[in-house]
Amino acid sequence: MRVLPSGVQTRIQQVFCGFDEVTQATQGDAVTLTLVDEVDASRGDVLVAAEQPPEVADQFEARLLWMHEHAMTPGRQYLMKLATKEVTATVTDIKYREDVNTGAHLAAKSLSLNEMACVNLSTHAPVVFEPYATNRVLGSFILVDKQSFETVGAGMLDFALRRASNIHWQALEVNKQTRAAQKLQRPRCIWLTGLSGSGKSTLANLLEKRLHAQGVHTYLLDGDNVRHGLNRDLGFTEADRVENIRRVAEVARLMVDAGLVVLVSFISPFKSERAMARSLFDAGEFTEVFVDTPLAECEMRDVKGLYAKARRGELKNFTGIDSPYEAPDAAEVHLLTQDRTAQACVDELMQGIHMAGER
Ligand code: ADX
Repeated sequence: MRVLPSGVQTRIQQVFCGFDEVTQATQGDAVTLTLVDEVDASRGDVLVAAEQPPEVADQFEARLLWMHEHAMTPGRQYLMKLATKEVTATVTDIKYREDVNTGAHLAAKSLSLNEMACVNLSTHAPVVFEPYATNRVLGSFILVDKQSFETVGAGMLDFALRRASNIHWQALEVNKQTRAAQKLQRPRCIWLTGLSGSGKSTLANLLEKRLHAQGVHTYLLDGDNVRHGLNRDLGFTEADRVENIRRVAEVARLMVDAGLVVLVSFISPFKSERAMARSLFDAGEFTEVFVDTPLAECEMRDVKGLYAKARRGELKNFTGIDSPYEAPDAAEVHLLTQDRTAQACVDELMQGIHMAGER
């Protein structure tokens, strides 16, 4: 017998049904097993016949039925439940949406309620599975929203994508620790979130100046600037914002790996993408700063004239007007900016990130 995904081989010593030791059990029985060897087998692992193990993979082609009013967006993280396994999963690509009446294959960027699609799915950890066609239990899954814990989708795995097993992580000898040591600093990501016009860029800029003056090696990623280059293909739909944040979070991670203190200044309006960004970093490396300026105040400042445009209906999906901003519940630093000077805010910010760094 084999334990998957680890692949360790062992034998069953005893079988218990309730408190009674039994010599055999059949489908549907709940049993406790003891194994001959001390092996690591926990919830979500699968015991299989050693000669015919199911596959283990972290990228799949799957058919997905979306079951929630809030559309499915590729790049967003969901919780996938497959048999007893729970793992973070992301739809990396919608290959096509299927018209339920005609079966026609249609192009799609997101999936609405009751839509079916063929998708590529990527999981954060290897999953033991069998194609749905051969095994319904190990081939079917549901997707759950990570914030609300509602079931949002259900699907069937068709096959593993070969690329999953063909790309390996390259272990490098000059690493984050050696780069950080050379710079005499602790690399980290300071993530500023808040409405357009809340003062993120101004504060990030002042913060970077202070850190720079102290000899800290920094870099500032600013929404408006990154959208001129790396993310110039993205607009302001929900799907594009999810991708915007996914990319900038990955870039910030690379820069932290390079040993830098990275300041990120993006509206980043959705809780789930900010949680995704946080999940890319080690504990204590990510500091979320909520630049909290009331909408009315941002609108009054309207430095770029965008709020006025949005109110006139000339700019769609504007954050705070006709696109939501989900305020953080537990940011490490909560900066109330109204009626305060930028310098006073930066003083508090310096203190806040210092304290978050000590934790
Ligand atoms: S995010 O929502 O995807 O994080 P990001 O921080 O990159 O947004 O870009 C926000 C900036 O783009 C704003 O400061 C503003 O100047 C500009 N912008 C243009 N259109 C919009 C819009 N519809 N909603 C918000 N910001 C917009």
